Amino acid sequence: MSHTQEINENDLENIRELLSGSGYSEKAISYFLNKTSMGTIPDADQVTELTGDCGDTMKIYLKLEDGRIKDAKIQVLGCPGAIASAMAAIELIRGKTMEEAMAITDRDIFRMLDEIPDQKQHCIRLTNKTIKKAIEEYKYEHGSNPGGE
Ligand code: FES
Repeated sequence: MSHTQEINENDLENIRELLSGSGYSEKAISYFLNKTSMGTIPDADQVTELTGDCGDTMKIYLKLEDGRIKDAKIQVLGCPGAIASAMAAIELIRGKTMEEAMAITDRDIFRMLDEIPDQKQHCIRLTNKTIKKAIEEYKYEHGSNPGGE
């Protein structure tokens, strides 16, 4: 899945330069390279997949407890913008209530990234839509008051 798994230091520098040259901030590049929240949760309470108009796909895994997102992971088949956005957004929603996660805006995710190229803003939208879809699906399947108050 990850196309940076077997790269050496030289390649890494080249990738950093390339991304920086195309308008990615250091922070966004780190999210893209470190991929801290990339993966799956085997006993996830909710798994939701969404493919954007661009063809990129995200699959999110949520572990929920008492209406709160206890843990989250995401698999991304997509561009650096998609990967960076997804990593930042997962960091943002971890520990939040479902309501708080529903209130997260594209702008909130953008702030976590500092800067990504203008034409990559839709990668943020895809990320946010994936999160919202997952929570809505969970709520739909578990009634309107998931986890209780
Ligand atoms: Fe599809 Fe970035 S180009 S999410």
